Amino acid sequence: MRSLRKTVLLAILASVVLVLALLHSWPTRAYTTVDLWQQPGLLVERHLEERFQEPDHQLSNIPYHVRDSVASLLARNSCVCEGESGGVNLPFTQLLFPRVSAHPLHTAFEASELEEMKRRRAKEYKSFQKRSKTAADVLIIAEANSPLQYPTQGVDVRPLKTIIIPGLAVHNLPRDHYSINITATLGTLNVAAEVDAVRIKGDGEMHMTISSSLLPNLNRQLQFVTYTNTLFNPSTVDTVQFETEGHQAVFSIKIRHGVTPKLYNTGSKGEYNVSALVTIATKTFLRYDKLQDLIDSIRRYYPTVTIVIADDSENPKTISGPYIEHYIMPFGKGWFAGRNLAVSQVTTKYVLWVDDDFIFTANTKLEKLVDVLERTTLDLVGGAVREATGYTATYRQTISIEPGEEDGDCLHMRRGFHHVIQGFPNCVVTDGVINFFLARTDKVQQVGFDPRLARVAHLEFFIDGLGSLHVGSCDDVIVNHASKIKLPWVSQSESDKTYAKFRYPSASSDATHTKNGLLYFKNRFQCLTHN
Ligand SMILES: *[C@@H]1O[C@H](CO)[C@@H](O)[C@H](O)[C@H]1NC(C)=O
Ligand SMILES: *[C@@H]1O[C@H](CO)[C@@H](O)[C@H](O)[C@H]1NC(C)=O
Repeated sequence: MRSLRKTVLLAILASVVLVLALLHSWPTRAYTTVDLWQQPGLLVERHLEERFQEPDHQLSNIPYHVRDSVASLLARNSCVCEGESGGVNLPFTQLLFPRVSAHPLHTAFEASELEEMKRRRAKEYKSFQKRSKTAADVLIIAEANSPLQYPTQGVDVRPLKTIIIPGLAVHNLPRDHYSINITATLGTLNVAAEVDAVRIKGDGEMHMTISSSLLPNLNRQLQFVTYTNTLFNPSTVDTVQFETEGHQAVFSIKIRHGVTPKLYNTGSKGEYNVSALVTIATKTFLRYDKLQDLIDSIRRYYPTVTIVIADDSENPKTISGPYIEHYIMPFGKGWFAGRNLAVSQVTTKYVLWVDDDFIFTANTKLEKLVDVLERTTLDLVGGAVREATGYTATYRQTISIEPGEEDGDCLHMRRGFHHVIQGFPNCVVTDGVINFFLARTDKVQQVGFDPRLARVAHLEFFIDGLGSLHVGSCDDVIVNHASKIKLPWVSQSESDKTYAKFRYPSASSDATHTKNGLLYFKNRFQCLTHN
């Protein structure tokens, strides 16, 4: 009996301690649950769009004449890929007079699986759009003759922080009584100070009304309106409605963290220290003789620059030496996987990409490329590659995307560039360059090399980077290419033959299918044209 009572007492004591411990560790802040898939901002936008869609019947009766030369420049939202036909088929015509050819991409899939592929792509695309669109992408039109004054852009708030909304006022509106409504969707409104003879309703909420019969007092009050973001998002936009009877205005407040900088210490002033600024990255596969020639040539000009080598050969050999990092990968992992690995190990501000069969010469002046990146906003700058024949290539490409409907967009690639860069007469702005480029390490890491592209790939990196990479090309920094053109009197080594089999597969091969399949599904293109 006694021991039973003792056990019960002990049990009660234990539960009290447990409850106390639980209470102590219980989160004191109440957390709300938010639906991150629903964007409240976008609902407001729909309402805004509807307001402007009512056609103006007075205007629709006025006749007009289309100016074809200009109208044809406008995107039609239903792109097509057209090649150029005709012309004579002589050897080297493609080199001398490049013609545009068009390629459908759905051929990467069997006819039987195409419908299913299209449906799946549409589903993924829809969710991509949901993730990537913010209220900042929605068209906002200021209505005619509004007495409302408000900020059109440049209002920023950090997530969950508070700001004063600058510039709110009402002008030239004779009335007996003024009433202003302000409505937000991702935060609350309030006032940092109160003004006499002004009535405030809904302060601390998403919908606030400010009213007064004195316009100067109302305007004074509007100078103290605050916005507090309440729904956390590291980068989005709130669309705020600002209205008084008969007049409406809409403006946006950007909600975002500041960009965290990644800065590199570039050393003392004076000449660029290439060893401190640049890492040379390459990928090798079977060609150790060529790689050694590359390393030897680099060392003649840059004895202390770090070289990162990614290697997916079947029987890797040891490559050692000062300032060399050799990373061995599983056999045949491929071209882009190797680039990714090499670039991921770079710790300098810039990374120079070279192929393992390049040779540095006195014309391979990395300082020049560093200078371009240091003194412009470019993220990546390509050089030139000289073939054994003396022909020098920069392989500049412009890339553009035309919107299509549910079949996908059209990708157009053309040789060429956009502008010459002021102060650098040998350099131009373009979208894609040759396999020899210097780039900001963090930007290349952000875009990344899709490791699914194992064999045939190069421009895919620039397609993925379109819109985030600012690309240039200079033809006065030249690296030599160990002979690629097969000269009949030079016999190919065994490793060269194996290499060629892996690296240059035929157009009907799996590798080409994989590439076209990625362009079709991942990038949502229906077709591509290039010259
Ligand atoms: C302001 O909001 C209130 C509801 O809170 C509404 O009754 C009133 O009509 C609105 N005024 C204007 C000018 O939109
Ligand atoms: C250049 O940078 C390297 C590596 O950071 C350093 O060891 C070397 O002393 C620097 N050279 C000069 C001249 O500053």
